[in-house]
Amino acid sequence: MKNEKLAQILEQAKLDIEASKTSEDIANCRNKYLAKKSELSAMSSLIGSLPPEERKDFGAEVFQTKSQISSLIEEKAKDLQAQELAAKLAKETIDISLPGRSLTPGGKNPFHVVKDEMIDIFLGMGFTVADGPEVETDKYNFELLNIPQDHPARDMQDTFYINDTELLRTHTSPVQAHTMEKAVGKPIRIICPGKTYRRDDDDATHSHQFAQIEGLVVDKGINIGHLKATLELFAKKMFGEKREIRLRSSYFPFTEPSVEVDINCANCGGKGCNMCKGTGYIEILGGGMVHPNVLTMNGYDAEEYSGFAFGIGIERVAILRYGIDDIRRFYQNDVRFLHQFRKKA
Ligand code: DAH
Repeated sequence: MKNEKLAQILEQAKLDIEASKTSEDIANCRNKYLAKKSELSAMSSLIGSLPPEERKDFGAEVFQTKSQISSLIEEKAKDLQAQELAAKLAKETIDISLPGRSLTPGGKNPFHVVKDEMIDIFLGMGFTVADGPEVETDKYNFELLNIPQDHPARDMQDTFYINDTELLRTHTSPVQAHTMEKAVGKPIRIICPGKTYRRDDDDATHSHQFAQIEGLVVDKGINIGHLKATLELFAKKMFGEKREIRLRSSYFPFTEPSVEVDINCANCGGKGCNMCKGTGYIEILGGGMVHPNVLTMNGYDAEEYSGFAFGIGIERVAILRYGIDDIRRFYQNDVRFLHQFRKKA
């Protein structure tokens, strides 16, 4: 290099670049040596004022110095950036050997445990699951089930009215009418689990909201033996092989004959205790042979077709199954209650 000043600048630049420890230091070097106000820029502007014979060499020298400094700076900047990134990553690493924060697992509400089990039992017998609305019309909730206006059976099922014709269904039985309507005269074998509502004063055994599983079978040649066998199998699967059922005659407007079904008390084996109120039996559901009026009103020839139906309270089954003392516990979501039903791992 012929020009001493340029050689000096280059030397100093090398020292400064070498001494840079951070990206900020190198940015300062860039500013000092390559910016518009740098000594090198000042020297570039001299080129034009030199005599032509010196101009070319001096110009080349300035250019060379500039590009040498520039590449030294960029190289160093890259190194520093990589170092800084590595340091940052090292500082931010996660210590995967730390124990995790423990989560408290919830428990499935026993209501759902029992509901799912009940559904499984009936699916195993060839039933399919049907659905229906919770906001019902008077027609489906009462009239198509042989409960006309002013029928005394309506007293037992007071409910929440939306308006004169719509109400919250008092039982899952209206799904019988919906299903018959859709099946247009064809055989039926369905269950329908769902929420039901009645105006009630809530206490340990009453709730204004509860749930039922409805069952309906319609076909040629169905008799009460089919109903009994179906419910017996259900009771044994649900409560144990040793349980016996008993059919008591009862009354529902939509079945004839109507029955109430009891299981023998597991607590006393039938001798009579507090749980069965001394009777040896506990009522679990209502059912019967579908009333010919219901078949006819819903599009079936009652001479040719017959059917059976039943309605089971889901909470009632869960209460009996687990010995739960208060129906309200199903809806309160108290974790102390739910934890008792947590599956052991
Ligand atoms: N719907 C009745 C109730 O809620 C229960 C019931 C009884 C359903 C007899 C039926 C039946 O399907 O056949 O009290």
